Amino acid sequence: MKKAHLTVQSNSEIADRIYKMVLKGELVRHFTEPGQFLHLKVSDAVTPLLRRPLSIADVDFAVNEVSVIYRTDGEGTRLLSEKKGSMIDVLGPLGNGFPVRRIEPGKTALLVGGGVGVPPLQELSKRLTEKGVNVIHVLGFQSAKDVFYEQECLAYGDTYVATADGTYGEKGFVTDIIREKQLEFDVLLSCGPTPMLKALKQQYGHKEVYLSMEERMGCGIGACFACVCRTGESDTSYVKVCLDGPVFKAEEVAL
Ligand SMILES: Cc1cc2nc3c(=O)[nH]c(=O)nc-3n(C[C@H](O)[C@H](O)[C@H](O)COP(=O)(O)OP(=O)(O)OC[C@H]3O[C@@H](n4cnc5c(N)ncnc54)[C@H](O)[C@@H]3O)c2cc1C
Ligand code: FES
Repeated sequence: MKKAHLTVQSNSEIADRIYKMVLKGELVRHFTEPGQFLHLKVSDAVTPLLRRPLSIADVDFAVNEVSVIYRTDGEGTRLLSEKKGSMIDVLGPLGNGFPVRRIEPGKTALLVGGGVGVPPLQELSKRLTEKGVNVIHVLGFQSAKDVFYEQECLAYGDTYVATADGTYGEKGFVTDIIREKQLEFDVLLSCGPTPMLKALKQQYGHKEVYLSMEERMGCGIGACFACVCRTGESDTSYVKVCLDGPVFKAEEVAL
């Protein structure tokens, strides 16, 4: 983990309230696994005090650039969306990402993203195809105005889009698409809202499944316990999403 100031190369809206920010700096060289995240200081003022965690969406080592994609939900992400051409204080790359090294060439990986859980799947898809893994993407959004990254995913493999209101792609949820299209896979890797992760674990937990968890964070480095997550339904043991995750095998976390 490093702390550095990165330059904001660009920061623009790519879907409704969804921004893509490209950051440049030496820290990018320390990125190892898709699914790792950056902890960003959104303001030089006293508030908001806490950094905001955002998944690394894409890395370009040739030019030391990294992208994050975020939805403007509250004060922190609103402040981020106003940054142009400035420097930003970043901690990272943090956490343990998706285990690309464990997935063998020739296997088929089903990558399932929901809303702002879609971004880390791009780098994941790139890494998996580079090592000869077949990838299929299923992306879920609320509505047509929220859809992004369909083309980027298509560059690597078959891509299906579901919207809850049916205004784009198939009407329904990602789980409907997997069932209706009878998608076959060896390993499932997912990032998105907890209800989606829960449904995937319930339906496919008997297979090899990796889930990227989202919890509100404080320090981002394992020191404050803000991000703890239970490891079993009746278990009193916990993991820290920032340090032990954010990616876990499905059976390692209670949802
Ligand atoms: C490891 C990790 C990776 C993440 N990656 C991304 C990403 O790539 N893109 C993206 O848009 N968001 C991502 N998030 C969520 C993002 O960090 C929050 O949306 C953001 O911190 C909200 O800050 P805010 O000040 O705008 O909103 P706040 O005012 O703090 O909250 C606004 C709303 O966002 C919700 N929220 C806050 N923190 C989280 C959280 N950790 N998870 C889910 N909901 C939250 C709150 O409940 C509230 O409804 C990630 C979170 C984690 C833990
Ligand atoms: S955010 Fe502080 S321990 Fe995870």
